[in-house]
Amino acid sequence: MSYTVLTSREREELVETFFQLKEMGERNSIARMEAMTALRCLKAVHSNAIEDKRVDRIFLQVLLHNAGVPDKSLISHHYLNASNELRGQEKMLRWLEDKAVEKEEFSISLLLEMHKTVFRESMQEASGRFRQDEVRIKGMAHRPPHHSMIAESLHQQFQGINERLFCIGPITRSNFFDVLQVSAEIHYLIASVHPFEDGNGRIARAVGDYVMLIHGFYYDVIMTDYRDIYLDSLEECTAIDVTPLLRFIEYSYLETLRRISGFFQL
Ligand SMILES: Nc1ncnc2c1ncn2[C@@H]1O[C@H](COP(=O)(O)OP(=O)(O)O)[C@@H](O)[C@H]1O
Ligand SMILES: [Mg+2]
Repeated sequence: MSYTVLTSREREELVETFFQLKEMGERNSIARMEAMTALRCLKAVHSNAIEDKRVDRIFLQVLLHNAGVPDKSLISHHYLNASNELRGQEKMLRWLEDKAVEKEEFSISLLLEMHKTVFRESMQEASGRFRQDEVRIKGMAHRPPHHSMIAESLHQQFQGINERLFCIGPITRSNFFDVLQVSAEIHYLIASVHPFEDGNGRIARAVGDYVMLIHGFYYDVIMTDYRDIYLDSLEECTAIDVTPLLRFIEYSYLETLRRISGFFQL
């Protein structure tokens, strides 16, 4: 086992920190909005940096702030694409936050719209469309299904996920981990089916976020530093058991919540 697991004391800390921050966010909705913005920006940077080692997160910061050289294509086409995808991702996450308020269910059209919003400029033809060919995940034993199976299998799985997602009531200490479980399931579903030519990782992490947003959670940010253990945890999951990814998300979420807890004490 190469992924990380919280100790029972750390699991308690995770739940306690979550409820403390939830309560503080309810008392101060402006501070909550600021914390969500901080996490959304951090997330956009790290979710892109996990996928592209060539554009380090220090450059993604420049792109996110729209700073530096105005025309990024003067540096390279790849850098311009990174800029468009990063800003597309931040926009898609804001859009998901609105959809979560409306309690929109998972559907094929929601998924395609997410992909389109991030990759409209950089992929044009392939954005918002399922792949038309076979795909391999570099360095991984896992084999995604034939492209002819994508729409049908996602449609079926979404039904079960929507049922479980929307039957979770107000968050308590006993159903807190159910939200993380459903988040890990849909995250693994999209990562393993690999429905798009490219961009599967960023969309897989964002569907996992959507589950958390529906239940009013703060984002979890998977930091680039944990790229290898995150990928190991995915490789150890199966279609019926996503425990390795769930354990990793618990670990990552504790770290994310610790990161914002000082802010509420300002
Ligand atoms: N063994 C695996 N099982 C399931 N999903 C995996 C596995 N290995 C990698 N992935 C997923 O595939 C993603 C990379 O796919 P890719 O389409 O290139 O995403 P992106 O373009 O967002 O770069 C990883 O971030 C991860 O989410
Ligand atoms: Mg990629």
